[in-house]
Amino acid sequence: MGDLSGSYEIRRFGAVSRGNTGYAAAETWARAVAFGFHESIRTPEHVEKSLATYELDGRTLTGAYQTAAVAPGSLPAEVPVATFATFRKTLNVGFGRTLETQMVTSVTVRTSHRRRGLLRRMMGEDLRLAREDGVAMAALTASEGTIYGRFGYGVASFERSVKVDTTARFNLQHQPAGCVEVANPKVLLDLAPVVFDRVHRVTPGSLGRQEWYRQLASGSLGRDGKEDPAIKVALHYGPGGAVDGYVSYKFLGWDTTPYTVEVVDLVAATNDAYLELWQYLAAIDLVERVSWNEAPLDDPLGWALTDPRCIDSSDSRDMLWLRILDAPKALAARHYPTDGRLVLDLHDPLGLTAGTWSLGVEGGEAAVERVPDGTTADLAMDVSALSSIYLGAVSPVTLAAAGKIRENTGGAALKARQMFAVERATHCLTHF
Ligand SMILES: CC(C)(COP(=O)(O)OP(=O)(O)OC[C@H]1O[C@@H](n2cnc3c(N)ncnc32)[C@H](O)[C@@H]1OP(=O)(O)O)[C@@H](O)C(=O)NCCC(=O)NCCS
Repeated sequence: MGDLSGSYEIRRFGAVSRGNTGYAAAETWARAVAFGFHESIRTPEHVEKSLATYELDGRTLTGAYQTAAVAPGSLPAEVPVATFATFRKTLNVGFGRTLETQMVTSVTVRTSHRRRGLLRRMMGEDLRLAREDGVAMAALTASEGTIYGRFGYGVASFERSVKVDTTARFNLQHQPAGCVEVANPKVLLDLAPVVFDRVHRVTPGSLGRQEWYRQLASGSLGRDGKEDPAIKVALHYGPGGAVDGYVSYKFLGWDTTPYTVEVVDLVAATNDAYLELWQYLAAIDLVERVSWNEAPLDDPLGWALTDPRCIDSSDSRDMLWLRILDAPKALAARHYPTDGRLVLDLHDPLGLTAGTWSLGVEGGEAAVERVPDGTTADLAMDVSALSSIYLGAVSPVTLAAAGKIRENTGGAALKARQMFAVERATHCLTHF
């Protein structure tokens, strides 16, 4: 019989590449993830390449395994019925400051074992362990909007898909400060991490990238596990000659009309690099449209165009979900552009960081103290709401209007908005 008793063993192990002890378990785990996301069976080569990148990321793989006999003919007990993975990178929390973050990914539960608390168990245990390990923040991207709020996650950044008309209508008012040149895509194996690191240091909401990104951008490892010969790359050189931006893209073929170039990765460390890469994309002959699925909502491109309606932005959506694991640590990690004092009454569905906290900011530096429960707080909220406003992309005033934040002191939500503001638009270019 299948395990209907709901008894499972949770196992955690490191991702390893072929040839290392534990590869068979990691390979089986990776296939279970692909199954959970409705992919076709991954070839052994694809799994091998993925695991080689996971090993470099230092991923911890978690699986839930049936402990009783499995139903005859069904998948064997060594195939996990649920998967979960984590790795750690830094999050830019504004003004160049970073905070170590637990990145959660590969969350799947086999249909025949869903709604028995497996996700709750894996998530609860993992967040508790991360917190005990001194990590103050967790992050993920969500397949559905209803899953993660219950665990204390809140939406903290957004993105949109754009289709940009690059016919004669595209007129960008910008005097180039540098130049763009076409390169062999493989140069990105070395250059992409260097350029991204510059972007990461100046962009609130940016998360460190996993190994796969340089492979993707350089055409070395596409989503199908193969080389992608269609990838083309252009580099942006700043006035001093250093590469400070790149775009990786592909032409979608003569059957797609209007003729379209799709951006695979666009990373620009300066305002000039960003606009000049767009000038380059718009100048590609025989192409009438450039599409990009990871564009910022607050996008300088529209303001630099004579006709901002060249941009058709069909789809705006949540991107990064954050979950504060340790409120005093996360609050103290930020720089605040406005001084002030706020008492926050924080609820936490997992009990990791509940309490009443006083946030006092002087000269941009925060002092965070626990105050006795029952002290009247200026604002009361769930940890998911604090996680949402933490990067400055979600307004506490809006969350108060939505009933997600209770304002006990008039004007406190506006004060929070000013204190949690960041120096430029929050945007995360790391999907994981
Ligand atoms: C989403 C998924 C991981 C949930 O796993 P699960 O083990 O069934 O979840 P649990 O039994 O631990 O449920 C925990 C709680 O979340 C709720 N929940 C779980 N998935 C939900 C969903 N998709 N929508 C709304 N609520 C959901 C459950 O009802 C339960 O609520 P309760 O604690 O109030 O009773 C699973 O359905 C799945 O694998 N989906 C397909 C892959 C996917 O979308 N993964 C997420 C990638 S970001």
